[in-house]
Amino acid sequence: MTHAALHADPPSAIDKRAFRNALGAFTTGVTVVTTRDAAGRDVGLTVNSFNSVSLEPPLVLWSLARSAASLQAFVESEHFAVHILAADQEPLSNRFAQRGADKFAALDLERGEGGIPLLPGCAARFRCRTAYRHEGGDHEIFVGEVLGFEAFTRAPLVFHQGGYAVAVKKRPAVPKETDAADASISRDALVYLLGSAHAMLLAALRPALAARALCDDDYFVLNILSVGVPRSVDELDALMALAGRRVTAPQLAALAQRGLVRAAPDRPGAWLLAEAGTRAMLEMAAVAKAVEEDALQQIDYSEAHLLKHLLRRVIRNTVKGGQPALWPAAS
Ligand SMILES: Cc1cc2nc3c(=O)[nH]c(=O)nc-3n(C[C@H](O)[C@H](O)[C@H](O)COP(=O)(O)O)c2cc1C
Repeated sequence: MTHAALHADPPSAIDKRAFRNALGAFTTGVTVVTTRDAAGRDVGLTVNSFNSVSLEPPLVLWSLARSAASLQAFVESEHFAVHILAADQEPLSNRFAQRGADKFAALDLERGEGGIPLLPGCAARFRCRTAYRHEGGDHEIFVGEVLGFEAFTRAPLVFHQGGYAVAVKKRPAVPKETDAADASISRDALVYLLGSAHAMLLAALRPALAARALCDDDYFVLNILSVGVPRSVDELDALMALAGRRVTAPQLAALAQRGLVRAAPDRPGAWLLAEAGTRAMLEMAAVAKAVEEDALQQIDYSEAHLLKHLLRRVIRNTVKGGQPALWPAAS
């Protein structure tokens, strides 16, 4: 093991926090590295210093803080496993980033060389033999020879500037439309894209609505009331008007007659979902989930997450101050 001479005192110009922030510009995946200590206890921690080193022989590396409780176990153990976390494994990352927690509780483990614990649900995992260890300042660098690996088709969890992120592949640019000169709406316009997506999703829900003798307007009213806030006809009408729809007192009375809505006990003139309405909306929620899954086919977890995140931002950017809100302010 050779070491170049290091400054005993780091140059004072290096501010630790600024250094850490600058390093945060380097976007990484997130891994959990596991091993087994001399007493046979499972040990592991969240690590983003993982990197590939060599293909021939197959080598990977990661670095472990000397202050980590797991240092001794990794130093003494011959083997470790690196799990590249999938985009939905943020809770697992948080769990393994905590000192002292029972990190392996209720996990469905497999075992690798030397009994090292192998975690389920990740994007890829590598079983390694510790080939070298190097001193790396306040960290110990572990170089592992890969003995075996598995890759699963799951989108990875990403870490960027101190927070979790998702990776979305850049697609080739969509060629510019040539027929934009006419007055028709562009196929690239957000209002066209959102409108079409909404119309298609609603169309997919209609058979289930028809089976319950509900029209689109009934569905919108019941959806608003499913939030659990009592609403008067005027309030319902104002919310419906946002979607270009109206609702009247006779429509509410008809829904009440079918046992779908009921008068709110402590707010005269306001309506709540009745038992049959709650049941119908629970059933419709399951149908809507299936329709969503169908619509999100071939769109991976990261892309779906980003799509919803961006739609929320579009909604926030376009809501005007005076518009009524569907959810109470606290939620
Ligand atoms: C995203 C992320 C990446 C991390 N990367 C590392 C790392 O590369 N090396 C390290 O020693 N600690 C890293 N940590 C911190 C450890 O996971 C954390 O200190 C953990 O409590 C150590 O566990 P232990 O003390 O039980 O060994 C990271 C934490 C997070 C959230």
